[in-house]
Amino acid sequence: MRSFLILNGPNLNLLGTRQPEIYGHTTLSDVEDMCRTHGEKIGVSVTCAQSNHEGALVDLIQDARGTHDGIILNAGAYTHTSIALMDAIKGCEAKVVELHLSNIHARESFRHKSYISPVAIGLICGFGAHGYILAMDALQTHLETGS
Ligand code: DQA
Repeated sequence: MRSFLILNGPNLNLLGTRQPEIYGHTTLSDVEDMCRTHGEKIGVSVTCAQSNHEGALVDLIQDARGTHDGIILNAGAYTHTSIALMDAIKGCEAKVVELHLSNIHARESFRHKSYISPVAIGLICGFGAHGYILAMDALQTHLETGS
């Protein structure tokens, strides 16, 4: 059975109450439940993790090597700043899908730069919590067919 890590970065523990007009009313625990349920449907084992700390996220990405086939990564604001996360992804064999609830390209210009995109297999943004399901399906298809 394939294994996916659903990894959320800084401030995503506040989902549901943090700027709901941008990020929606779904909580992180709702998102994680949705991902686990979807995993059962598509035959994928799902592990969920969240940290507000860049180094802890680096550790989780390093530990994914040999443990998880893929990572759905919402790196939050570290997306726009973190060469450390980019390097961790480069060194990790797991395939990474970059995920954002909001459409980062329709927002402030500082959110248009992503250090994750160049090392991800693809990017899903702007579809709110449903994006996690889209990302899981995209990752599963990519692992199955290479596309
Ligand atoms: C986010 C977008 C980032 O720019 C922001 O810093 C976040 C959330 C999103 O899911 O839309 O924390 O990654």
